[in-house]
Amino acid sequence: MDKNVWIMKDKTKKSDKASGRRSFIKKSGIVLVGSSITYPTGILVTPTPAKTEQIKVGLIGCGGRGTGAASQALQADPNAVLTAMGDIFEDRLESSYSELVKIKGSQMKVDKANKFIGFDAYQKVIDSGVDVVLLTTPPAFRPAHLTAAINANKHTFCEKPVAVDAPGIRKVLAAAKMAKEKGLSIVSGFCYRHDNSNKATFGRILNGGVGEIKAATAFRNGGELWFKDRQPDWKEMTHQMRNWYYFNWLSGDFIVEQSVHSCDLLSWCMGDAVPIKAMGTGGRQVRVDKRYGNIYDHFTVEYQYPNDVKTYLFTRQQANTQGRNSVDVFGTEGNALINLYGKSEITGKEPWVFRGEKNDMFQTEHDELFASIRNGKPLNEGKRMAHSTMLAILGRMVGYTGQEISWEDAINSNDTMGPKIEEYDWNLNWPMTPIAVPGKTKFS
Ligand SMILES: NC(=O)c1ccc[n+]([C@@H]2O[C@H](COP(=O)([O-])OP(=O)(O)OC[C@H]3O[C@@H](n4cnc5c(N)ncnc54)[C@H](O)[C@@H]3O)[C@@H](O)[C@H]2O)c1
Repeated sequence: MDKNVWIMKDKTKKSDKASGRRSFIKKSGIVLVGSSITYPTGILVTPTPAKTEQIKVGLIGCGGRGTGAASQALQADPNAVLTAMGDIFEDRLESSYSELVKIKGSQMKVDKANKFIGFDAYQKVIDSGVDVVLLTTPPAFRPAHLTAAINANKHTFCEKPVAVDAPGIRKVLAAAKMAKEKGLSIVSGFCYRHDNSNKATFGRILNGGVGEIKAATAFRNGGELWFKDRQPDWKEMTHQMRNWYYFNWLSGDFIVEQSVHSCDLLSWCMGDAVPIKAMGTGGRQVRVDKRYGNIYDHFTVEYQYPNDVKTYLFTRQQANTQGRNSVDVFGTEGNALINLYGKSEITGKEPWVFRGEKNDMFQTEHDELFASIRNGKPLNEGKRMAHSTMLAILGRMVGYTGQEISWEDAINSNDTMGPKIEEYDWNLNWPMTPIAVPGKTKFS
């Protein structure tokens, strides 16, 4: 890394320094696209339930995260009940159901008739009379599932990432706007935003705790992940749906599917402003076996903001390499280190360490969702979750092509990675696009 990247010229006036981060945002022309929480003023399309009234919950995507999210939803509110479940695989739905009965038996009210299997299961869950839906399938389905949920006036927990391509992001933005107008809650699975330590640390950063931000870096480095061996009776579609992570039309590639958390944290410290453009590298060095579909195993991305401010994402998934999940924020008056596996601290003019109460961020996001429904004060994280996901998609675009790409061009791209929701079928043979080659793969 070029040393000059870290030593950026401070063009700020003294008076601006005093008022900290907010004046930086104003001065640099960055537009705040969302605060941590937005409360819409629209008319509520669903009546606020009384404390004792049941809130019916439907789960769409009964895998690892879906099962966890459902148990957290039931934990969040004693009168929440799970009444419907949907998945494309019966075995996944049944194992999730058994697990949930063990953990939250008295709140499990899923009749046999309300267990839906197939690519249209999402709509059947939505139409089954639920108040809240939990969207926890692979991300390719999220824009269509979210749109259907908001169309049907459902409050939503929407796992990250929320799309795999720009047309999907635009769909999510439209759904988020509709939710705001209808007074429906959308809480995203960007769980780090619901962690007490992160809230306090980013809160200080955004209030000038490190002076003006000049740069930030995020690392998300890990090893190998799961793989499901192909069975003799599996069609190609079954194989890809069981191993969705390795097919970029379903997962968005690992930068979108997993490193998106780091993009979200970088976005948070930038006040949720969007960058001007990005540049990056990426490739497939270690995870080269055919069974790993068409995704990369490393990316490095530079995001450029107004006033020469830059953020950097370093991410890899390679076996036997050093793991790291952190964000460093470099300011004119100090630095912040956010160690997602450990403690966070600020050094410099006003040193600070988080000493507050720890919380379970996965539980808190559901506590906040259900409190918002009970209080009739909808929480809408829709725009923010879409923009954080778009940051990761932009990172994939620059990594795949080797070109500099502007935010404007990226978010307006019409490159659609998968089929339309109504086209999904077990006989579909959706072509796996060739592994991207920087310099040859074109941006579209
Ligand atoms: N916030 C977090 O920290 C966190 C942690 C884990 C996973 N996640 C997210 O949750 C999502 C799911 O991840 P997972 O680890 O649970 O994967 P998983 O494979 O365990 O679960 C996905 C489930 O969705 C089902 N499914 C696939 N397509 C479907 C469709 N069209 N309709 C209905 N069901 C469908 C699958 O059969 C499977 O049961 C991903 O987007 C992932 O990024 C977030």
